[in-house]
Amino acid sequence: MELSVNVDHVATVREARGGTQPDPVYAAMVAELAGASGIVCHLREDRRHINDRDVRLLREVVKTRLNLEMAATEDMVSIARELLPDLVTLVPERRQERTTEGGLNVVDQRHYLRTVVDVLHEAEIQVSVFVEPVLEQVEAAADIGADIVELHTGHYANATTSKTAQQELHRLQNAAEFARTLGLHIAAGHGLTYDNILPICRVHAIQDVSIGHAIVARALYVGFEQAVRQMVELIRYGRLLPPLGLR
Ligand code: PXP
Repeated sequence: MELSVNVDHVATVREARGGTQPDPVYAAMVAELAGASGIVCHLREDRRHINDRDVRLLREVVKTRLNLEMAATEDMVSIARELLPDLVTLVPERRQERTTEGGLNVVDQRHYLRTVVDVLHEAEIQVSVFVEPVLEQVEAAADIGADIVELHTGHYANATTSKTAQQELHRLQNAAEFARTLGLHIAAGHGLTYDNILPICRVHAIQDVSIGHAIVARALYVGFEQAVRQMVELIRYGRLLPPLGLR
């Protein structure tokens, strides 16, 4: 399982003072040196953390895989076509939200999203869609021609009892196994931490995880390189654990 590091919150700290430090571009380079397999950033309509300069420079320096998270709007699609990230992850976006709150409703927007996927494919950009671990959404992701489905792990991460966490884990596993039968590449993310990543590693159908906040938070104590390295090592260890049984 590969780790993609989301550098949005490095930019959040920079924006707290409106200066130039810390720089998400520098953080991305350190993350790659520490073993990250990809770099993720979310260019929001309100540019509250990552901005246009960041994505331009990230495109230049990222040597692994640059994943641009964005809303499926015409403006963002045209930025992606100019920038040419390796992949785009389509996410829902609401101005008032603190972070991405739910998965994209692909079922209800099949027609429009299919055209977005086609336009991105024309530019040779792979497309991932961020969805709830719900079979209908996964099926719709395959139907619109997405290459990758990123399963929303937020409900798993926010579970307050071990019973709910187990239930959410099995929901993720079912969705991942189903996505595999449809030939999709499977990623997962949102709210994953050093404390809750191991059970996710036991879901072998999940091939990638995208993690931001937990790594940036730990970096304050141990440094960015060490924080990424610790997550890479934890994931490597987690993959050696027995796979989660099917339900
Ligand atoms: N995946 C997606 C689609 C996201 O929107 C986010 C948050 O920006 C993440 C992964 C990373 O979440 P976190 O910062 O909680 O690790």
